[in-house]
Amino acid sequence: MQQIIRWGILGTGAIARKFAEALRDVPEARLAAVASRTSDNAQAFGKHVGVSRCHGSYQDLADDTEVDVIYIATPHPQHAENTLMCLQAGKAVLCEKPFTMNLREARAAIELARQKNLFLMEAMWTRFLPAIAEAKRMVTSGEIGRVQQCHADFGFSFNAEPTHRLYNRELGGGALLDVGIYPLSLAAYFLGAIDSVTAVSQLGDAGADMQTAFTLRHQSGALSSCACAINAETPTELTLAGDLGYLRIEAPFYASQSLTVVPMNGEGRTVPCPYIGNGYCHEVMEVTRCLREGLIESPIMSHNESLALMACLDLIREQVGLTYPPDLRG
Ligand SMILES: NC(=O)c1ccc[n+]([C@@H]2O[C@H](COP(=O)([O-])OP(=O)(O)OC[C@H]3O[C@@H](n4cnc5c(N)ncnc54)[C@H](OP(=O)(O)O)[C@@H]3O)[C@@H](O)[C@H]2O)c1
Repeated sequence: MQQIIRWGILGTGAIARKFAEALRDVPEARLAAVASRTSDNAQAFGKHVGVSRCHGSYQDLADDTEVDVIYIATPHPQHAENTLMCLQAGKAVLCEKPFTMNLREARAAIELARQKNLFLMEAMWTRFLPAIAEAKRMVTSGEIGRVQQCHADFGFSFNAEPTHRLYNRELGGGALLDVGIYPLSLAAYFLGAIDSVTAVSQLGDAGADMQTAFTLRHQSGALSSCACAINAETPTELTLAGDLGYLRIEAPFYASQSLTVVPMNGEGRTVPCPYIGNGYCHEVMEVTRCLREGLIESPIMSHNESLALMACLDLIREQVGLTYPPDLRG
């Protein structure tokens, strides 16, 4: 792999724009090409982000020999199909969260990456933020003792036209898949493998969940309580409690610049953890590192981790009666 990693962005929506911004802040990365389903969109997006290689089809980006790795920024139901297409064409892939719509799709994508010996990662960018990385280091070094509890939420009050992708089950709408994946992912990151889950949801008129709350029992015996919403403005906090103290990542945890650790019998201290640029740079740096080292997965957001999270999302959906069109596909 050459020195500078050449990126392609597939899809031209909101997160694609933010990701293009992040690439500008990572010296080892260069945005080489973009793709849309239409030439006009591709050209407009290319102009906005300052790139001249603009493809009017996703397949053309997958086949572009000037690109090393493709960032997939389409709605969730397109993730599996787009990932398979890029891997088939020999490209490494960073795919937006949730990785796929269900475990079956996730397995297919990971099997292909392994078969082709190509890098593949779910874009779980929060795991790479400095505040989360520092919390992980503290937990591992035993600063709060044996971690027994995680409390995490991610919710916002959203008001848009009923056709918006967040309400539309055809586009993977609902709180759980859009933001519930964050507390779930972080609970598993800090407390380890999940043994069982219990969930409740409030479903909206179109059948997508407006809010979901779930508790997890981890294999270690630790417990997590998590919540997500697209109809309520929640603090978006993350707290970890151990037998020697607790640790709080300042809200909102996805944009935290510091964390506070409070030992059982002592003074709390706040540790600054600034992130670079708009925060997405850190996942870009991890992909860069992995590609340069010839890895096909990141140890921080591994294939097995994505599979375990998808399995848990499937279980939650089964419990609350949340279904999507891809569930019906064989
Ligand atoms: N990491 C984060 O912080 C973060 C934040 C927001 C969203 N996300 C994730 O990123 C993905 C995209 O979210 P977004 O907010 O960027 O969505 P968005 O603004 O609606 O953009 C999605 C893009 O996907 C392409 N697309 C392909 N098939 C489509 C279809 N059938 N319907 C609509 N668009 C389609 C479109 O680009 P073309 O028409 O140009 O092909 C569109 O611009 C989601 O999976 C979401 O979970 C992540």
